[in-house]
Amino acid sequence: MEHLNPSDTDLGRFGVEPEPPPESRARPWHRWVPIRKLGERHRRRIERHLLQLGPEDRRLRFGVATTNDQIRLYVHSLDFERDELFGVFDRRLHLVAVAHLAYSASPQRADRPAIVEFGVSVLERARRRGLGDRLFSHAVLRARNRHTDSLFIHALTENGAMLKIAARNGALLEYSGPDAMAWLRLPSDTVSTHVGAALVGTAAELNYGIARQLRLLTTWFKRVVARRPTPSA
Ligand SMILES: CC(C)(COP(=O)(O)OP(=O)(O)OC[C@H]1O[C@@H](n2cnc3c(N)ncnc32)[C@H](O)[C@@H]1OP(=O)(O)O)[C@@H](O)C(=O)NCCC(=O)NCCS
Repeated sequence: MEHLNPSDTDLGRFGVEPEPPPESRARPWHRWVPIRKLGERHRRRIERHLLQLGPEDRRLRFGVATTNDQIRLYVHSLDFERDELFGVFDRRLHLVAVAHLAYSASPQRADRPAIVEFGVSVLERARRRGLGDRLFSHAVLRARNRHTDSLFIHALTENGAMLKIAARNGALLEYSGPDAMAWLRLPSDTVSTHVGAALVGTAAELNYGIARQLRLLTTWFKRVVARRPTPSA
């Protein structure tokens, strides 16, 4: 098994320059992304989001070819109490990106504390705008706030985009044939990780509320205009 450290120059393989740890990665305010916590009431929307992924994306997301029924089963089994799910909605309030932090009660590696697995999907039309990267950073914050020691991603070696995101955020990459594992040791939580997560959540809810009101207003306005009698010539 090959071991790669993000500081290695070999990261050129993904076009990645070594970067500072996540906490010190400042992002310009105009690239802010509203990330909402997803709960029980979003189950149907999560299902719809995943069913929109094509066969290749499903294979990359779940590691194997995945049927509609298997996706439904996965969504049905989501435990919103134990795990954390969050997502990004577009202006039409469609769920375009979903991240899943799956917590485990027992350690995956002997004599190590339990760790959390990260999984993510972004719809084709919303890719390469940094959503995957933002969701990963947010996941790190949430996992730290739950006193998690490490986070890992199970990806296929061919998944350049996912491995790039992981490496750029300081994860250690391990390869074993077609499989890759990305491991990230998480620093302890701080006041700033708690405040940061709370701010992201509140701002995203506010953003969603405004977008929803705007949509309702637009629909109402269109109905009113459609009902107006056309002036006779
Ligand atoms: C992986 C995935 C989540 C990335 O989402 P995204 O929103 O496009 O990610 P970002 O915009 O943050 O881009 C990540 C980086 O990867 C790069 N990238 C995109 N596709 C790539 C590819 N095929 N090979 C290498 N790098 C790629 C992007 O250019 C970007 O780098 P940059 O910021 O230096 O330009 C998305 O492609 C996806 O949903 N894939 C299917 C499901 C999946 O693979 N999930 C991950 C397994 S859990």
